[in-house]
Amino acid sequence: MDKFLLILFLLVLTGSCRNEVEQKTVATEKNKKWWKEGILYQLYPQSFKDTDGDGFGDFPGVVEKLDYLESLGITMVWMNPFFESPLVDNGYDVSDYRAILPRYGTMDDFDAMLDGMHERGIKFVLDVVVNHSSDQHKWFKGASSSRDNEYHDYYHWWPAEKGEPPHRHSLFDPEGGWDYVEAVDAYYLHTFAEVQPDLNWENPKVRQEVYDIMKFWAEKGVDGFRMDAFQFASKDTTFPEFPKGHEKDFIKWYGMRPQLHDYLKEMNNEVIRKYDVFAVSEGAGSTFEDAHKLVDADRNELQMAYHFETVDLSRTPEGYTLKEFKDVFTSWDESFAEEGWISIFLSNHDNARMVSRFGNDSPEFRTVSTQMLNTFLLSMRGTPYIYYGDELGMTNLDMPKIEEYVDIDAKGKYKAAMANNEDMDAFMEVLNYSSRENGRTPMQWDTTANAGFTNGTPWKKVNPNYREINVAAQENDPNSVLSHFKKMTEVRKKNPVLVYGDYELLLPEHEQVYAYTRTLGEDRVLVLLNFSERESTIDMEKLNGQNILINNYDDLDLEGTSVTLQPYQAVIVSMETES
Ligand code: GLC
Repeated sequence: MDKFLLILFLLVLTGSCRNEVEQKTVATEKNKKWWKEGILYQLYPQSFKDTDGDGFGDFPGVVEKLDYLESLGITMVWMNPFFESPLVDNGYDVSDYRAILPRYGTMDDFDAMLDGMHERGIKFVLDVVVNHSSDQHKWFKGASSSRDNEYHDYYHWWPAEKGEPPHRHSLFDPEGGWDYVEAVDAYYLHTFAEVQPDLNWENPKVRQEVYDIMKFWAEKGVDGFRMDAFQFASKDTTFPEFPKGHEKDFIKWYGMRPQLHDYLKEMNNEVIRKYDVFAVSEGAGSTFEDAHKLVDADRNELQMAYHFETVDLSRTPEGYTLKEFKDVFTSWDESFAEEGWISIFLSNHDNARMVSRFGNDSPEFRTVSTQMLNTFLLSMRGTPYIYYGDELGMTNLDMPKIEEYVDIDAKGKYKAAMANNEDMDAFMEVLNYSSRENGRTPMQWDTTANAGFTNGTPWKKVNPNYREINVAAQENDPNSVLSHFKKMTEVRKKNPVLVYGDYELLLPEHEQVYAYTRTLGEDRVLVLLNFSERESTIDMEKLNGQNILINNYDDLDLEGTSVTLQPYQAVIVSMETES
């Protein structure tokens, strides 16, 4: 058992500290925002609830589950794209930004869903996919038909008379980011798949089209925007040769060009400030400075960003160390302590399941370890983003064979690995662990066929463990992941210290326990999270205050000078401060 000293309490209880805290509290009051106080639930509509038996989730399905969403205590829903699309990249290839893909329902169904959310105090965040469109969008069809077409300059072209374009890395296409179109005798750029041509943000007409689309949805009443792949929107349009070996820091080379900030200011003026909406960027650049430039209030650009450092920690079955995990969250918090705001997340539709990556998905530990991770997400500074199913502890799906994969990303990576003569068994092991398909399986509602997701054939295989992990089984069990999640959202909402309070890391070197305090004026809480399947004891020099706000085990003895945490135990203690 490890033993460590907790010394901080003596420090933070001093008068000088109190003054500093009060000053920060005043600043916090000024900076209060609904989107900072919110708890966001990411809903993958394709996999949530199907009502018409086509095996594909739909808006009426979401409407059917609105009371469920409300019961979770979440206050915002970000829904992945549901627009007209050929679905080559599951909707991230939009062919009409104002039309709904009929499989999801009609515009009336959308309105009913939005109203239903608003009636329950839930805000709606729209996914805006405008780094690229689908090649089936009328803009690209026109653009690729003739150089004189009015939409030709909506995309980036390399005319063939200049020779072959310099190599450009593509995130989905092993053959690179340029593709030739005979009708215009030129190559178009695609950062993602061949069917996702990049929009030319340098063209003011394109920007105006985007703002008009955003206004259309803001007028309908959406409350926020998630800007997909946005750090790639501005390019160095001389298109220099991509430096080989830098595929992993692609953004540094090709994203976040300075003019992006002009565009964001323009977007802020045209859309964001006119409606009471916020916008979050997918990606935060490659430095803290990049991230601040996107979100600091005085810049009048975006309001929030999410970085990939956490999910990058655990891309192989070897996993991560708790020290690395703490370093990532602590350094981001430090950088954003005074200015700017970020999201806190551990999984989404581009990642494997949270408990399988950061917790322990064995039957013995998956309940407690998911509860622990949810306690973490909901007790950090930053807006928590909870991915559907993580309120139940849904796990990865075992898919050892490439034939089972439908995702364009997985297929592209497989092709590239084959071309590079990689060890394909090792490749499949990593893919099975890390593939984003793990995170897209149908929501597990009950023990009926297909987990109650559909009466038809689900578009994606249901995880067979739905018989044990499902809403119905957990709803009436006070010790379930779901019940704990509901308690935890309530704790966050009742304790503004968890939203705005200063974060201080304790025991930075401890390999099993992540411990920190959050402090806002007179309020202080201590968060203790055991990230391991072993018991762990920590010594405390002084712990004056014993009001336990949440605990995923029945007991916790705070009387002595040490605390023993059970495997994956997660506790939040409200501390009394000396006056
Ligand atoms: C973003 C989305 C991802 C999509 C990609 C291309 O990263 O989150 O799902 O495949 O953009 O649009």
